[in-house]
Amino acid sequence: MKSAYFLVAFALLAFASSFVSAYDPSPLQDFCVAINDTKNGVFVNGKFCKDPKHVVAQDFFFSGFDKPGNTSNALGSAVTPASVEQLLGLNTLGVSLARVDYAPKGGLNPPHTHPRGTEILLVQEGTLYVGFVSSDSDGNRFFTKVLNKGDIFVFPIGMIHFQLNIGETPAVAIAAFSSQNPGTIVIANAVFGSNPRINPDVLTKAFMLDKNVIKYLQSHF
Ligand code: GLV
Ligand code: MN
Repeated sequence: MKSAYFLVAFALLAFASSFVSAYDPSPLQDFCVAINDTKNGVFVNGKFCKDPKHVVAQDFFFSGFDKPGNTSNALGSAVTPASVEQLLGLNTLGVSLARVDYAPKGGLNPPHTHPRGTEILLVQEGTLYVGFVSSDSDGNRFFTKVLNKGDIFVFPIGMIHFQLNIGETPAVAIAAFSSQNPGTIVIANAVFGSNPRINPDVLTKAFMLDKNVIKYLQSHF
């Protein structure tokens, strides 16, 4: 009987730990500033960590969110990230930020997902039409809102989401993520712009479109 309890407890523990490791790990030390070479590195934790003795305030500092990103592109949007690549002191801490700029009248941060992080978005200027779609098992429900200055919306981890500027003026938002490196998969880039290209037969069937339409889309990404 005792061994049955032990087995159940063991199985529960194994299940719980597989859950925990699906997210950024909790830090095991005060900080672990990432460095890109091993010369002065001491611990390995995803990235090499700087020897704590050499850590300085600058390692935890990033500047630039006061400057608008350049939205003169086909989508009319720009994301300026402050994740572990830009702010090495974020290493192992499980959070990051981005500034997002949207051109007036239609600037779009196109449908995308973050495979490793939930996003919480605060609108600083302008009016955004935003939304995300839940998974197939939830019926692909579309959760949407129009956001104004001061409004906040959450995009749960892995959900496809977007933001469209429906105002007459530029819009700005700050996105916070529950990951030091949430990652981004822009749906159109991944599906039609993969390297190498996905065989058009796959996409023709999947999207129920004419093969020429698929080839046209593939030539545009
Ligand atoms: C907004 O959705 C962003 O990922 O920057
Ligand atoms: Mn996002």
